[in-house]
Formats: sequence, structure tokens, C-alpha cells
Amino acid sequence: MVLRDISLIGFKNISDDRLALSDGINCFVGDNGAGKTNLLDAVHCLSMAKSMLTMTDSQSVRHGDEFFVLDGCFVADDGRQEQVCCSYSRRSGKTLKRNGKEYERLSDHVGAFPIVVVSPADSALISDSADERRRYLNSFISQIDKAYLTALIRYNAALAERNKLLKTQPEQAMIEIYDRLLCQSGEHIHTRRREIIDQMKPLVENYYALLCEERETIGIEYRSELSERPLSELLEASLQRDLANRFTTCGIHRDDMVLSIGGYPLRKYGSQGQQKSFLIALKLAQYTILSDRKCERPILLLDDLFDKLDMHRVAQLLSIVAGEKFGQIFITDCNKVRLQSTLDRAAAAYRLYNVGNGEIRQ
Ligand SMILES: Nc1ncnc2c1ncn2[C@@H]1O[C@H](COP(=O)(O)OP(=O)(O)O)[C@@H](O)[C@H]1O
Ligand SMILES: [Mg+2]
Repeated sequence: MVLRDISLIGFKNISDDRLALSDGINCFVGDNGAGKTNLLDAVHCLSMAKSMLTMTDSQSVRHGDEFFVLDGCFVADDGRQEQVCCSYSRRSGKTLKRNGKEYERLSDHVGAFPIVVVSPADSALISDSADERRRYLNSFISQIDKAYLTALIRYNAALAERNKLLKTQPEQAMIEIYDRLLCQSGEHIHTRRREIIDQMKPLVENYYALLCEERETIGIEYRSELSERPLSELLEASLQRDLANRFTTCGIHRDDMVLSIGGYPLRKYGSQGQQKSFLIALKLAQYTILSDRKCERPILLLDDLFDKLDMHRVAQLLSIVAGEKFGQIFITDCNKVRLQSTLDRAAAAYRLYNVGNGEIRQ
């Protein structure tokens, strides 16, 4: 999948721009605050119908403007062309169109234009709560499994209702209705998360070894109460506790993905370079799985390429992603000379754009 061109109106600090893109590596260089990440976020919006930064749509509208419009022409690996238009107005909300036709549900768009992001914001996967890791898994698995996204939406709706009910001294029969709904979708979500983490593990190990000379063993483990007992039993056993706490204390909304290095938690014992390499390996594993499942090479966004990486690891990363298995890539960096010399050394062909004050010039 490649994005052949993109036009942006009123998106963050980009007032009006139109770009033709290379099918290979596209590099965006410019000072901090120039708008490089904003441009990548626009690409993400077209692919996933939402920002890659946890922002509301209205925050993406340029200050003082009323709306933004993003329009892009995608070309699939088989040559099929698709026009995607994502617009948002402060007054009437978001609209997403594919080949001129508006989607009934935004979720129908997810997965049709696969994308993988490597960004400094990934560090939240290590340092923040399990919430961030679940969000990551959800977004990843939703791209390959429509039923997963549907199950997730149902689960969250049932969970919210059950929690509301728990605040009102409910009858047990009422609770059981929601328990059944939670079990139906919860078990599906659990199975898919387990499968995907099992599949990721050897790939992450492999990419980590390619990126780093050191040979620490790395670990990635799915932690879920549902691995011990079925959700129906868990809910039954925790009912008294749930009633006392007035919310649901067990289920897949408490799952985690535990990351380790040399047998110790990555967060506490990994150096910055190791943590970053781990996260990149995770994303490359995600790329490989998406690519295999969709028979389509995803778009790869590498925001702030040199973030926490030395020259050597950047060169390793570039040599991996310049290979056949990878497709279109977007790279940003604030140092043009550094980026150009690294790419030249990797003998990778690229197109360079300068970004300044929300304007992008080739
Ligand atoms: N809604 C918005 N309207 C106008 N400017 C915005 C908006 N959101 C972010 N910005 C501006 O975009 C700039 C950050 O751009 P960004 O793409 O993150 O820079 P970088 O090139 O460092 O990646 C900041 O100056 C910020 O003020
Ligand atoms: Mg940036």
C-alpha cells in the first residue's frame, strides 16, 4: 500500500498543502515544531480515521479555522487505486469517504489501509499503565480482525452498563444478562490477544537481534486472568467483590502485555537504547504480521528517526526497512545533514522534503 499524494487543509499548523509522494522512502526534515509529526499524523488519520496522538479531532483543526480536510490517493500492492477523504468540522463532526462514498461506520475503515508507526510516543508502552499496552494491542488486532473490533465495542458497552448497574444495588438476574454479553465478546478478545502475542514473540526476538549487537534475551508475555479460568467463572467468583467495589474487578479490561529483557522488567532494567530497540522490534514484528495477514505491505511511519538511537542502530534499522519486505516509508528528523549521510551510507533511495512553519517543500 502506498500513499501517492496527499492534500491537507487546516490540519494543525498546515494551512494548505499538496504533496506528491515517493513509493519508497519519503524524508521530512525541519526544525522542532515545524510540522513534521503533524504531516505523519495526517497520513495516520487517512489510514486509521483518527490521530496517532491521543487527541480529539477538534484539536487537529488549525487554530482559528473551522474545519480540516485531508485527501489522499492510495495505491494497493495490486495496483488498485483508492481515494480517501477525511474531514472534520467543529460544527458537524467527522466524515470519512472512500472513493467518494461515505462510510456508515468509521470502524469499517480500520484495517483497509494498514499502517505501522514508530514514534517517541511509543515509550508510553513501557512506562505507563497497562492501559496503553491494551490500547496498542486493540489498535493492532483491529487492523487484522474485524470481529475483534466488533467484540471490543460490545465488551466495552456491556462493561459500562454492568458498572452502572453495580452502583444501584442490582438484582442478580440483571447482572447475569451483562455477564453473558461480557463472556461472549471477552473470550474472543482473549483468544485473539493470546494468538497475536504468541506470533509476535519470535519475530520481536529476531528483529531485536538484528538491531542490536548484544544478545540479551527478551520476553513478551500475555498476562490475563482468563488464561487461568473462563470469564464466566471469574465473574461469578468476583460478584460479591464487584458489588462492594461497585465496578467490575475482573475481565479482559485488566489484561497486560509484560515486556522484559534478560528476565527483568524492561521498564526498570532496560537502558534507553535497549527500550527503544525493543519497541522498534515490536513494531517491525507488527509490520510483518500485518503484511502477511493482509497480503499488503503497510505504510511505515518512522517519526524522529534518531530518537534515543545511535548511528549504528539507525543504520541497522534502515538496512532492515529498505529491504523487499517493506514498502513505503515516511521518516522525519530535525537534522538534514545527519539524515542524508545516514541514508546515503545505507545506499537507500529517498525523496527529501523541507518542512518549516507548516509548509512542506520538496
Ligand atoms: N491545531 C493546531 N493549530 C495550529 N498549530 C498547531 C495545532 N496543533 C499543533 N500545532 C502546532 O504544530 C507545531 C508542532 O508540530 P509538529 O509536527 O509536532 O513539529 P515537529 O516538526 O517538531 O514534529 C507546534 O508549533 C504546534 O503549536
Ligand atoms: Mg515531531
